[in-house]
Amino acid sequence: MQKATLSLNGQTHELPLVVGTEGEVGIDIRKLRATTGAITLDPGYGNTGSCESAITFINGEEGILRYRGYGIEELTEKSSFLEVAYLLIEGELPTKAQLDRFRHRLTYHSLLHEDMKKFFEGFPPSAHPMSVLSTIIASLSAYYPENNDPADVELNIIRLIAKIKTIAAFAYKKSIGQPYIYPRNDLSYTGDFLHMMFAVPSETYEVDPLVENTLDKLLILHADHEQNCSTSTVRMVGSSGASLFAAISAGVSALSGPLHGGANQAVINMLERIRQDGANYRKYVEMAKDKESGFRLMGFGHRVYKNFDPRARVIKAAADQVLERLGVDDPLLDIAKQLERVALEDDYFIERKLYPNVDFYSGILYRAMGIPTNMFTVMFAMGRLPGWIAQWKEMHNDPNTRIYRPRQIYVGPNARPYVPIEARE
Ligand code: CMC
Repeated sequence: MQKATLSLNGQTHELPLVVGTEGEVGIDIRKLRATTGAITLDPGYGNTGSCESAITFINGEEGILRYRGYGIEELTEKSSFLEVAYLLIEGELPTKAQLDRFRHRLTYHSLLHEDMKKFFEGFPPSAHPMSVLSTIIASLSAYYPENNDPADVELNIIRLIAKIKTIAAFAYKKSIGQPYIYPRNDLSYTGDFLHMMFAVPSETYEVDPLVENTLDKLLILHADHEQNCSTSTVRMVGSSGASLFAAISAGVSALSGPLHGGANQAVINMLERIRQDGANYRKYVEMAKDKESGFRLMGFGHRVYKNFDPRARVIKAAADQVLERLGVDDPLLDIAKQLERVALEDDYFIERKLYPNVDFYSGILYRAMGIPTNMFTVMFAMGRLPGWIAQWKEMHNDPNTRIYRPRQIYVGPNARPYVPIEARE
């Protein structure tokens, strides 16, 4: 067996290596503290493998992203979001019969318990749909209690995927004061979501197949991304034995931040700000380079991708095509292209390998499809849900799972006696 050697305080320690199916090497430090007394320090976990996983492979240097071995380029071209969801959760592409059953079950579990409408009513209209989404998902554990029976767990997984689109659309309808539109069983997963979002009782709403298809592809591109912030959150919460709904709700909250899923909304806000400032994009590139400004180019950079984000490449190609076919002329797209060009030619961005990420173009596409800006991150959550579930299930079924419990290096005061309040200065 291959080993790494660590020399610490004059003593040599051998550490086993774990090698993945794509040749990635990890130094197994599980026994490090017990044998050496030392721990590793890795704030932000940039060099820490928290698990072994058979779900998603990323090679950030070469811009590769595969789900269960299938490249996302091929999946977006040839498969559907439900097929990909099944692939991630079950490990293999479904047969026709398996996919039909999966689709059928998702269709017939999409209603929300009527009492849950009261939750939506309790939110102020200004509530961000991501807060509503995480709250309502957490509340599902009150309606569908969990035990360890695999059939119950599986049913709750179906419920979650079936209901997330209803929850998302209800959150939007609540925010604009329109009546909720109930799910329709004759529509596709994405078609039904669009219908619940945009239909009003007084008119007939026809789902545009181009929008339906584009949304399906966007959801596939977001479906998993191995141990990112929200997925690690799902695993961390789940590792305590908390319910699936609690873990996914925590994942939604983690995703909402502007450095993670919230970036797609932040990109549009940034582009809008630049447009209102006379489209002076160079000024913003300079601001992004100036650390004092506190401003970053949203939609640029990635912890793992240091060459290009393969998801951004697929979306960029789709954006040009879809915008043309939908007849959308969006001034923000021109600003986005200028920003991208300037940033990619600038030494600051080249040296730091800062390329447009998935969120840079997805916002433009969502806008073209009529999705309101505050729903962008909700779209990301709907897409990421199968990935979160697959990761949760992998962890849940692994007999070696231990509760996630990192260590720290304490740098605070040493032991000192309590000071009575009268004696404090
Ligand atoms: N604009 C300007 N400078 C940047 C940017 C940016 N968007 N991103 C990173 N940098 C600089 C950063 O200041 C640092 O410079 P220096 O080495 O001189 O100190 C260097 O590049 C490395 O940055 P970092 O913060 O150490 O990188 P990280 O791996 O910790 O952060 C990131 C990754 C995605 C959080 C970060 O690039 C960022 O804040 N980007 C903007 C937000 C964004 O688009 N997030 C969506 C990520 S993709 C969707 C998802 O998976 O959630």
